[in-house]
Amino acid sequence: MSKQHLTIFDTTLRDGEQSPGAAMTKDEKLRIARQLERMRVDVIEAGFPAASPGDFEAVKAIAEAIKESTVCGLARANDNDVQKAGEAIKPARSGRIHTFIATSPIHMEKKLRMSPDQVVEAAVAAVKLARRYTDDVEFSAEDAVRSDFAFLCRVFDAVIKAGATTINVPDTVGYSIPEVWGERMRQLIEAVPAADKVIWSTHCHNDLGLAVANSLSAVLAGARQVECTINGLGERAGNASLEEVVMAVRTRGDLFTCDTRIDATQIVPASRLVSQITGYAVQPNKAVVGANAFAHESGIHQDGVLKHRETYEIMRAEDVGWTNNRLTLGKLSGRSAFRSRLKELGIELASEEALNVAFGHFKELADKKREIFDEDIYALIGDETVTPDHERYRLVSSMFHSETGESPRARLTLSVGRGEARVEQQVDAVGGGPVDATFKAIEKVAASGSDLLLYSVNAITTGTDAQGEVTVRLSKDGRIVNGQGADTDIIVASAKAYINALNKLEAGPERVNPQV
Ligand code: KIV
Ligand code: ZN
Repeated sequence: MSKQHLTIFDTTLRDGEQSPGAAMTKDEKLRIARQLERMRVDVIEAGFPAASPGDFEAVKAIAEAIKESTVCGLARANDNDVQKAGEAIKPARSGRIHTFIATSPIHMEKKLRMSPDQVVEAAVAAVKLARRYTDDVEFSAEDAVRSDFAFLCRVFDAVIKAGATTINVPDTVGYSIPEVWGERMRQLIEAVPAADKVIWSTHCHNDLGLAVANSLSAVLAGARQVECTINGLGERAGNASLEEVVMAVRTRGDLFTCDTRIDATQIVPASRLVSQITGYAVQPNKAVVGANAFAHESGIHQDGVLKHRETYEIMRAEDVGWTNNRLTLGKLSGRSAFRSRLKELGIELASEEALNVAFGHFKELADKKREIFDEDIYALIGDETVTPDHERYRLVSSMFHSETGESPRARLTLSVGRGEARVEQQVDAVGGGPVDATFKAIEKVAASGSDLLLYSVNAITTGTDAQGEVTVRLSKDGRIVNGQGADTDIIVASAKAYINALNKLEAGPERVNPQV
């Protein structure tokens, strides 16, 4: 029996970006969008165009670049948001507007201060306006999980009549459990008059760790679109993770009457890219994409897998992109091998000059490290793109001293300013450890007044010559940013990450969160 299609709607670039500090630049979003297209995601929610001019431009650029996936823009149910989303997705070969309004009593009374009748009216008007821009209009009832069932049916009936083609049912606060969520989907599909004319969608948050389970339950009950993110990134505890949903549906094909068109071998590269760009590390025991997801520690398990893989493995690591991803380059690799590996990884540099700079850095790294893995290349390119010329601070050189019985000391030379006004400054500082001394030295120059919320180091690959990838999370005046840096010397990586975070704090656009 041929399977029905399950639409994968990826919202890494919108809901994922609502994670603290995960805001991305236009170029970073484009890189992720290209990887999502390569992975054959059906719909890419590229952002919330009304949030800021930068968000509008990012959605527009993605709409121009992406050909094989539908590009979607989010809009609250008001004229301005819908118009902005409509303009932003205009260049897309296939474009969608996703408009939403809250339908639960608590959201309508306390947040929107609107009556149920006003909410229905706004929803219908937004869908009608959206249909003037595209035939592909999705409507979401925010906080559907805590909405009255009869009212939900009324809203959905009205927006379907107004022209909505996808109806999304969000568990905005991650409150449901699988049995209840599946049942709600089943009852909605039964009760809403024109239910068979639209695609039913589920959008679950992970506050109780049940986002994937709830999404799968909704699929078993008839949903044919799942909204999810790479690595489960998203507001608070995150969204349903794309890789888990896709692999559950595929691996348990005996239970599901639908399947996705996802090229699963692109999952691990996508996970790496998102982690590297956002600074959100993937926990080692994370399903599918965690470093230990296919590692067998116990002797009994190892023995079993060696004798017959399926004794302990329900999926093959290579099917989700683990092995494809490890081809190495080395010290003797030339420019053309480097260029072709970048191409295979889907990394496009803006110019020949950018390629030359990246190749120079690759050679420097190859002098320090015997083998260069794909992960190193992602980190290297990340470094290139997160520290472009126009940013205020750059690390020129560094020296650290750490000796038993003495306070660790850092001496840094930073290049500060822009264009003609750029000058080099040398600073010294002592600290509790070399990283502390480094950050204090940078702050002597920047005096940013920010608070350090997080400092984390991960080895990008294995071995003592591996590059350390550092994430630094800074907060200032209510804004939170993540900075990343990678180097075989983790103190240098830390300095790069701190400087990257400072640059983001300086550059960051003010933007509106759709749900606030
Ligand atoms: O969680 C939510 O309700 C949302 C909507 C905008 C779909 O993200
Ligand atoms: Zn959400």
